[in-house]
Amino acid sequence: MSSHAALSDKTYAELAEIAARYPQPRSGLLPMLHLVQSEQGRITPEGIEACARILDISAAEVSGVATFYTMYKRKPVGDYLVGVCTNTLCAVMGGDAIFERLKEHLDVGNDETTADGKITLEHVECNAACDYAPVMMVNWEFMDNMTPGSAVQVVDDLREGKPVASTRGPRLCTWREAERVLAGFPDGRVDEGPGAGHASLVGVALARENSWSAPSADQRTESLGAGAGDAVEEADSNPAEAAAVDESSSATETGAEKDEAK
Ligand code: FES
Repeated sequence: MSSHAALSDKTYAELAEIAARYPQPRSGLLPMLHLVQSEQGRITPEGIEACARILDISAAEVSGVATFYTMYKRKPVGDYLVGVCTNTLCAVMGGDAIFERLKEHLDVGNDETTADGKITLEHVECNAACDYAPVMMVNWEFMDNMTPGSAVQVVDDLREGKPVASTRGPRLCTWREAERVLAGFPDGRVDEGPGAGHASLVGVALARENSWSAPSADQRTESLGAGAGDAVEEADSNPAEAAAVDESSSATETGAEKDEAK
């Protein structure tokens, strides 16, 4: 893996620009670390020092954040970061088989990069995309309903430089380019590709079929403004709910109130 170049003056200026976006500059640390990854392919000691200096915090504080979150990498990442969800649902739906097949096909283990520097493979935890299990991520973009065969096709296409699109997002860029977007420098592709897939929209379709709708904002405000008396009145029509209200009121009674009641 080639070594990284030193951070340029432009990058230092962009790091300061990110910090200046926030009332509390240290709130910018997460995107700043993404920019370091975009420039250097990982979180480097130089990147940690740069963030610390700009935010006027210690390198240990920056390092504590960079080592806490799994999106920050201490080892160089390849052109494409491929994460296979092996959390429970994806695992039983085929995630384990996909991960095993990719390890064998790419000749790497977990958190390792192929000899050509193209693909870094890792297993990831649930991506909140269980309705598309088994799911694979490439540079944090979804690849839904994968199979061992389709996963191999994706990594082969990426290694050959063919265009590959996320199943619910834009054409895939390199990991470093994606990291720059996460740092808050858009690449203009935010609206590319489908924003939602079929499985996510089933609830909407059902609601339309049955003419269901959510209460309006005004109705919700009114219901939130209703007093405790209204709640008890409503609960009175249902003995189980009434019991729950009684229990909750006695649970919230303060010590002073209890003493007074004696
Ligand atoms: S278990 Fe894989 S996305 Fe939820």
